[in-house]
Amino acid sequence: MKNTRAHGMGSVTVREGIVMFRGKLSRHLFADPMISNAFFIEDSDEAILYDPSCGRQIAAAMEDHIRQRRHAGAAWKKTFVVAGHSHVDHANNFALIDVMHAPEKHVYVHESGFRDGQVMNEPKSMFESLVTCSENYFSRYATFPFPYNLLMSPFTVMNRFAPAFTRRLWAAMAAIVWPNPVNGSVPAEPLREEKKESFRFGDAVMTGWKVGSKILLATPGHSPCSVSLLWEERKALLVSDADWIGNPVFMFSSLSDCIESLEKFRTLTEMGVVEVFLPAHGQVKTGRDTILNHLDFRIGRLKNMRDEVLCAYDAHGEKDVRKLTRILVEESPFFKTLKLTNLPKMVLNVHDIVALCLNEAGILTRPGAS
Ligand SMILES: [Fe+2]
Ligand SMILES: [Fe+2]
Repeated sequence: MKNTRAHGMGSVTVREGIVMFRGKLSRHLFADPMISNAFFIEDSDEAILYDPSCGRQIAAAMEDHIRQRRHAGAAWKKTFVVAGHSHVDHANNFALIDVMHAPEKHVYVHESGFRDGQVMNEPKSMFESLVTCSENYFSRYATFPFPYNLLMSPFTVMNRFAPAFTRRLWAAMAAIVWPNPVNGSVPAEPLREEKKESFRFGDAVMTGWKVGSKILLATPGHSPCSVSLLWEERKALLVSDADWIGNPVFMFSSLSDCIESLEKFRTLTEMGVVEVFLPAHGQVKTGRDTILNHLDFRIGRLKNMRDEVLCAYDAHGEKDVRKLTRILVEESPFFKTLKLTNLPKMVLNVHDIVALCLNEAGILTRPGAS
C-alpha cells in the first residue's frame, strides 16, 4: 500500500495520525472468531481508539503501540474508545482506555447497542438474539446449508418442545470460540439520539455527535447502533461494518438504512470531504474514484438484492421466507452465489435478506408493528 508505514506485525499508518491494526476474516464462524480492523487516532492532545476489535492478539498489538507512543512522549488530555457498533467482533477490548492514561476518558457505544444498561457485546446473548430476532419469520436452525443442517437438526426438533432452552444451548455452543468482553475502569456511555447535532457539508446536512475534535456520524443499517468517524483534516472516514459485504445481515439490520448510509459516504466523497475510506473488514480505499466505484458497487449490490427478492415475490406470490428463499436460490444466480457464502462460512444469511426485503416493502410486518 502506498503512503503507509508498517509498524510491526499487523499494523500500518494509513494517514498521518491514523494507525490501522489489521483484523482477519473468520475461516468458519463456529471455529474461528471474526476479528475487525481497529484504528488508533492521535491528534495533538487527544487519542481515539475506534472499533477496538476483539481477541488477545490484536489487543496486545494495540497495547504495545499505545505504550510505545507514551514512551515516545505522547501525553493525551482526552482519550476515547468508540465502538463502530456493538457486535462482538468490534465492541471489545474497552480496557485499553486505561492504557492511554489521560485525565479525560470516555467509552462510547450508540444507545441502541445497550440492553438493560449493558453493551450487547457478550457473545452468548448476541447469538441468542440472532435466533429470537428471526423467529417470527423462520427458524434459524433450519436455515444452515448442508452439512451444517444435519448438525442443526436436533436443535430444530428440540425447538418444538423447549425453545428457550434450545436457544440458550445453541448460543452457548456457537459462542465457545468468541472472546468475552474485556472491560476497563470506564463504563460505556450511550451516544443518545436526542443529543445528536447537525453538521453541514456544502448543501448536505448530516447528524451525529462530536467526539473531541472529530465527528461521529449516525450511519445505521448494518445495525441501528452503527456510527462512522470522520476526521475532516485528514479527509478520513472510518465506517466499521456500514460497508460489510454481507449487509444487511440480520433481522435487526435495515437494507434501506444500509443504502442511505452508503449514499452519505458517497456524498462526502463526491464533495472532496473524504479521500480515504477505512472499513472494519477489507481493504482501505484511497482516492475519490476508487471510493466512488466501490460505493457504487455496494449500493448497486444492495438494490439488486432487493429487486431480486421483490421480482421473485411478484412472480410466485410466496410470502413464506423459507419457501421464497428456496425459490431464489434455485432461480437467481445472484442468490445462489450469496447462499455459498451463507453462515457459518461468512456473516451473511440469505433468509434474513429475504425477510428484510419483504418486511421493508410492507409485504411482511415486523412483530409488534401495528
Ligand atoms: Fe457487525
Ligand atoms: Fe464486523
